[in-house]
Amino acid sequence: MRDQFGREITYLRVSITDRCNLRCRYCMPEDGICKLQHQDILSYEELTEIVTAAAELGIKKVRVTGGEPLVRLGCADFCKALSRIPGIEELTVTTNGILLDRYAEDLKNAGVSRVNVSLDTLDPSKYTKITGGGDISRVLSGIRRANAVGLAPLKINAVLIGGFNDDEIPEFVELTRQYPVELRFIELMPMGPGGEFGEQAFLPGDTVLQKCPQLQPLHQDGGVARLYQLPDGIGRVGLISPLSRHFCNTCNRLRLTSEGKLKPCLHSSNEIPLRGLHGEDLKAKLLEAVYQKPKMHVALDAHHRSEAGRTMNTIGG
Ligand code: GTP
Ligand code: 5AD
Ligand code: SF4
Repeated sequence: MRDQFGREITYLRVSITDRCNLRCRYCMPEDGICKLQHQDILSYEELTEIVTAAAELGIKKVRVTGGEPLVRLGCADFCKALSRIPGIEELTVTTNGILLDRYAEDLKNAGVSRVNVSLDTLDPSKYTKITGGGDISRVLSGIRRANAVGLAPLKINAVLIGGFNDDEIPEFVELTRQYPVELRFIELMPMGPGGEFGEQAFLPGDTVLQKCPQLQPLHQDGGVARLYQLPDGIGRVGLISPLSRHFCNTCNRLRLTSEGKLKPCLHSSNEIPLRGLHGEDLKAKLLEAVYQKPKMHVALDAHHRSEAGRTMNTIGG
């Protein structure tokens, strides 16, 4: 599927739930969210039907996200069904890692090739604070288990928040000296409660290069990330900079929410409802979404909020 601007669309991100066992302060409102009801969420059969149609149209890579995907019962079995769809070459999961120790092996056996784990700080008490009560030791066990069962190369996503974790940049980068992980710093995006963070919270990804000048650029395709490496590091460092250097010109993705709305762009409120469609009607809507992909999203910064129209937990990154 090629969009109006010549971009080949090969990647579908599927959010299977808006629920989460954490409450990251930039993602979900503290006073809770208006949770979707069971009947509003697409069944795994409905989701599989949509992914099958998308694969027939050229989607090759699928990422399962949430909220937190592992809180929805049967996530690993759903992954198994996805991995059997002809045309799907890569199946991955983005998780906060809390339940990863329990599910890593099931995911591997289900055909998931690797996982990306969110971890914004290495300090246990800061972790509890930013996640609204999370226990970092569970995430670390999850990461170890995921590596042990071969869900690799594992990527760790840290949202860069000025005044919260910028003092930990060198410590994060140091991890890549001895661990074969891709440590990715993501610029905080002004959406949901993240949009209320003050100006000082929005740091450009290049801050990492200023703090760690020994990082060498790698001329490899890092997807949305620019890649770097320590001279003697075995892991890599990635910079995801949707604010300071947006990557819309190479965007290859569509997003499906758990209620079956297809988002052609993360930062646009345009959504195409797919629930109830089958066969050629379903495929026609998928093609329509690709056609409606905008050239780029609006400029984002501390004062210009995303037009996503949703909080991140209902999109999944
Ligand atoms: P890989 O397949 O490992 O390259 O993963 P990924 O980067 O596609 O997925 P992941 O869920 O790890 O995404 C990392 C984060 O980057 C997301 O959660 C978002 O915060 C951000 N991100 C990913 N895709 C986009 C995008 O299209 N636009 C913007 N602005 N941010 C994105
Ligand atoms: N800005 C940047 N990243 C965010 N994520 C959630 N909300 C935001 C935001 N406002 C990240 C999570 C996770 C991924 C799914 O999206 O930390 O790594
Ligand atoms: Fe949950 Fe991810 Fe949002 Fe944190 S960022 S509350 S882990 S959905």
